[in-house]
Amino acid sequence: MHPPDAHDRFRPHAVRELAGMFDDVSPSYDLLNRLMSLGQDRAWRAALARAVPAEARLVLDLCTGGGASLSGLRRPGRLVLGMDASLGMLARAAAGHAGPGWAPRLACADAFHLPLRDAALDAVTLAFGMRNLRPRRAALAELARVIRPGGTLAVLEATAPAPGMLRPLHAFFLRRVVAALGRLSPDPSAYVYLGRSIFEFGSGDEFERDLLEAGFGRGASTRFLLGATRLWVTRRRAAAGETRFVPAGDVQNASGWGAGRREMPQAASGREGEWRLWSGAQALVSAALFIALAYGLWVFVNYQDQLPLEPWQRTGMGWLLAGGALVFGARALVLLVRFLGPPPRA
Ligand SMILES: C[S@@+](CC[C@H](N)C(=O)[O-])C[C@H]1O[C@@H](n2cnc3c(N)ncnc32)[C@H](O)[C@@H]1O
Repeated sequence: MHPPDAHDRFRPHAVRELAGMFDDVSPSYDLLNRLMSLGQDRAWRAALARAVPAEARLVLDLCTGGGASLSGLRRPGRLVLGMDASLGMLARAAAGHAGPGWAPRLACADAFHLPLRDAALDAVTLAFGMRNLRPRRAALAELARVIRPGGTLAVLEATAPAPGMLRPLHAFFLRRVVAALGRLSPDPSAYVYLGRSIFEFGSGDEFERDLLEAGFGRGASTRFLLGATRLWVTRRRAAAGETRFVPAGDVQNASGWGAGRREMPQAASGREGEWRLWSGAQALVSAALFIALAYGLWVFVNYQDQLPLEPWQRTGMGWLLAGGALVFGARALVLLVRFLGPPPRA
């Protein structure tokens, strides 16, 4: 059963309702976000930041929330803007960058009416914000207005379960686990909204069509966590009569989506290859230890009467095998998720 105002959050241009909801959940938002992404969101944000060309001078992180993606965008000579409709979330972003030194410029703004002139931005990043912007085409039209021709749009978003073996597990996670974790938040209904909004967003095909219609090019898309989260990177196409400004060395994203390619065109560095090999090897070792310990536990439970052990030794042995299996099982799972995700930043 959804609270009475839950439906209002899905209305077009429901900026007030959503800003209010995010104001309420802002104190626990980052922690729950980390838990729900199984600790992976940092690596995804790093991939989002890498998608922005180094030459981009003016970059906006739209729907910036608590500003978790902002510092990753920091580069010499670049001005980073963070905009969001929720003052509660922006206050957290400001507190997170309150120290001396570098700081982004923050502003409270509605994504449908950005306080920016046409073609002002070199790049826009959006992390987990796109699915809150309804109607999506109007939001994309506003982004196409403020991004210069040839400028970059990078969108990180959670997607609905795609057909396949893992669909029931993914759907269970979104419907039940997210709602259960949401009980830790000041407004649990926000997490019911979150699960529903991911289903509403879909698996991404419709979003790709909307991007093309809004004037963005065929970009590239990367899947994280077996496709539960995706990163789209695309360029704003130049309209008739517009000049496309392409900075030197700006050669990212030559491949298109929809043609079976799902990886961004990045040179796989030796460091990344080494990292993946090492993570995979560790996951294999942990999985092997888990299997050995689980088998040992099964043998012990079935044949313990035949072993010449004191009762306290029996109990100790049982706990040791069960604890070991649990620890190495969990470790194998975490390493597998890390292995399937993007590599950490240098
Ligand atoms: C799920 S949070 C994502 C926050 C942050 N980008 C992150 O990755 O943690 C979505 C954010 O979108 C903001 N938002 C929703 N509708 C908006 C609108 N129309 N204009 C600007 N921000 C909006 C919310 O206030 C919220 O902070």
